Amino acid sequence: MRFTISKIQDMKRAGDKITLLTAYDYSTAKIVDEAGVPLILVGDTLGMVMLGYETTVPVTMEEMLHHAKAVVRGTKQSLIIGDMPFMTYQVSAADAMRNAARFMQEAGCQAVKLEGGVTVADTVKRIVDCGIPVMGHIGLTPQSIHQLSGHRVQGKTADSARRLLNDALALEQAGAFAVVLELVPTPLARIITARLKIPTIGIGAGPYCDGQVQVIHDMLGLFTDFVPKHTKQYAKLADVIKSAVGDYITETKSGVFPSSEHGSTMDEGLLKDL
Ligand code: KIV
Repeated sequence: MRFTISKIQDMKRAGDKITLLTAYDYSTAKIVDEAGVPLILVGDTLGMVMLGYETTVPVTMEEMLHHAKAVVRGTKQSLIIGDMPFMTYQVSAADAMRNAARFMQEAGCQAVKLEGGVTVADTVKRIVDCGIPVMGHIGLTPQSIHQLSGHRVQGKTADSARRLLNDALALEQAGAFAVVLELVPTPLARIITARLKIPTIGIGAGPYCDGQVQVIHDMLGLFTDFVPKHTKQYAKLADVIKSAVGDYITETKSGVFPSSEHGSTMDEGLLKDL
């Protein structure tokens, strides 16, 4: 039985911190699911960490669906959220509903996420009215990275802080089941969290959010291009992989690998005519 949005909202009421991790493939999603993470986001960060794009902007619906299907196949308990890529929900509400439905019908996700506040609130409501749970995402919204002039903390002036609070309230009003706060100053994230009935999930937004989200490649030390300030590396898997690959090269060259246990035998008499 998978986590449900009402279970996630109960966790806020109970003061039980919520964890969300990204995953993009079958094997990793299976491990994350078995470890007990309630929410998995098939984030459009896959553009950078899986596909090598510079930003999330080029990511397409087809790429998202390809990865979301694999994540759903690998999981049993986590609630899977498909991240709606750039320009799949901004042009029209009809587009947004059609693309949100593709995450549910074709990939088997249980929810979708999209970026923006007041400006997308009507769209969020239309999608929720179709029966599709929506997670909001405000603060630093990576699909607008060029408009925002880079990865900057948002909401640092009185006006922009007020706008972010209004964005969060508009999403709640529109029926979003939770909202991601990305790169929002800790005191502002604390106020937004207190003002909302739905959970806030922070990334670079301090400890007072109802939950936290991390990009799995960052927290496992797998993505080596840069380490965001808000990341805590719980492992350095790139080093582990490099060392294992080095051992494989060395052992193959020296003949240590493969040994008899990695091969099979047969009656060699049968080969005498060859
Ligand atoms: O795409 C993503 O991984 C995200 C998280 C950083 C919240 O949107």
